[in-house]
Amino acid sequence: MNINPDKVNEGYRKIISEINRPHIDLKSVSRKIMEVIVDVFGADRIDIAIIREDFDIEHMPLTEENAVKLRITKGYTDEEWNLLLESGILMDSIRHAIVTKESIIFSDTIDEPRDKAEVSDKLKHGCWMNYVLVINDRAVANVHLAKKERLYYQEEELKQLEHMSQLLATAINVANLWEKERMLILEFIHSLNVALEVRDKYTAGHVERVKLYSELMAIEMKFNKEELELIKTAAILHDLGKIGVRDSVLKKEGTLSAEEKKEIQQHVIMTNEILKNLSYLDDARELACYHHETFDGTGYVMGIKGEDIPMGARIIAVADTFDAMTSDRPYRRAFFVEEALNILTDPSITQWDKEVVKVLINVLKTDNFKIKAEKEELIRYKDGKYDRENSSLKFKQFTTFFGEKE
Ligand SMILES: [Fe+2]
Repeated sequence: MNINPDKVNEGYRKIISEINRPHIDLKSVSRKIMEVIVDVFGADRIDIAIIREDFDIEHMPLTEENAVKLRITKGYTDEEWNLLLESGILMDSIRHAIVTKESIIFSDTIDEPRDKAEVSDKLKHGCWMNYVLVINDRAVANVHLAKKERLYYQEEELKQLEHMSQLLATAINVANLWEKERMLILEFIHSLNVALEVRDKYTAGHVERVKLYSELMAIEMKFNKEELELIKTAAILHDLGKIGVRDSVLKKEGTLSAEEKKEIQQHVIMTNEILKNLSYLDDARELACYHHETFDGTGYVMGIKGEDIPMGARIIAVADTFDAMTSDRPYRRAFFVEEALNILTDPSITQWDKEVVKVLINVLKTDNFKIKAEKEELIRYKDGKYDRENSSLKFKQFTTFFGEKE
């Protein structure tokens, strides 16, 4: 069996461009490398296991849970996969690499012990290769691939698999660095939000609630994982610029003058200023900075309207307004949930995307929301009954809202 050099070159090009992409994450880059390996070696089945950095074989049993950080697999049915796992073939090779501290590659059924060869027979593996990558005395990943055709993988192919798998180590390092950067940025944002909440007790908890509502709405709208992460980050960022608004305006209890209103509106511009150099947050910053745009175009700062406003920003706008209405303010008590929803659905008020409002209502009526709201202490119970007095989210008729009997 020969490898096609064009495919190999194309494969390296794809892997390298993936590694150089900004903000790569471990799962997507490993998946890309997996696709390339499958293509180059014409594999029918593949499994890539990334080993946990903190796995310590001397003090921990070598189990899937302890040792494997991420596993991606292709081509196996559940039954076949269980058979392979139970055979111990994968874990045995990882154990061997950890103990010897050397990358090892082996292939084919020919030298297998009889019991293992039976597994290969049952799996109808014509030939297979396994490579455990060890870098700086640490097992980093295990790559296992198999082909149904009864051929042998040749020396050249083993070498090629070694080289390709070694790029995984680079990918893992780069993905870890991006993840660290992401965590640092989010910690920095969290600190700024805490500083804001310490200054203004009425906004305490607001960010977390807007994040919760936005996330649940995005799930209801079947956002994918990346879109979901994006909207959660944007929700955390949405009012960050308020840190630059003067206390006398931010905490004013009476009606705001036109000038003061303008000053409050500046918080969107300040959010943009604070975040503009953090390129990692570009997409989330954009959503956050659109959260005061309104569906009818009367919002600020851009005055854009309708579907020109990204969906994520329309969701955050509804979540933000709903939370503002259902929270106490220095100048008024919190609205009942039913009252807030009446305002949001009022046909004469055209500020919000009514489809998004419908999504919010659907979400609020789910059991999942009820559970989350109880966990976040938005809803409290006393003697098994809804305790309106001590709940921050106040329902006029709790049971009827959730479609239960009074
Ligand atoms: Fe805001």
